[in-house]
Amino acid sequence: MARITVVDRDGKEHVVEAKPGLKLMEILRELDYGVAAICGGLCSCATCHVFVDEAWAARLPKKQSDEQDLLTELSDYRPATSRLSCQVDFTEALDGLKIAIAPDT
Ligand code: FES
Repeated sequence: MARITVVDRDGKEHVVEAKPGLKLMEILRELDYGVAAICGGLCSCATCHVFVDEAWAARLPKKQSDEQDLLTELSDYRPATSRLSCQVDFTEALDGLKIAIAPDT
């Protein structure tokens, strides 16, 4: 089991066990302070928006165009660090990842 650090919307940090093989969103939606993920991972709601710690942002797989298109519509979009967590495969290589839950859309 890997671990990630999740910063909630109040700025509090939580270290969470994370199972490789899941989407990052599937880990985060189980948390009380996590993401809503209303569309269930279909890349159509953006309620799984997170900010990836800058040290990690470049280590994640690149965004596909549908993720990029949806992100750029968000008022809280940050080009370098915004990701839709339903589009990120959580792998062992991401053990130690740090992300912050983005504000409600
Ligand atoms: S869960 Fe809806 S876009 Fe990610």
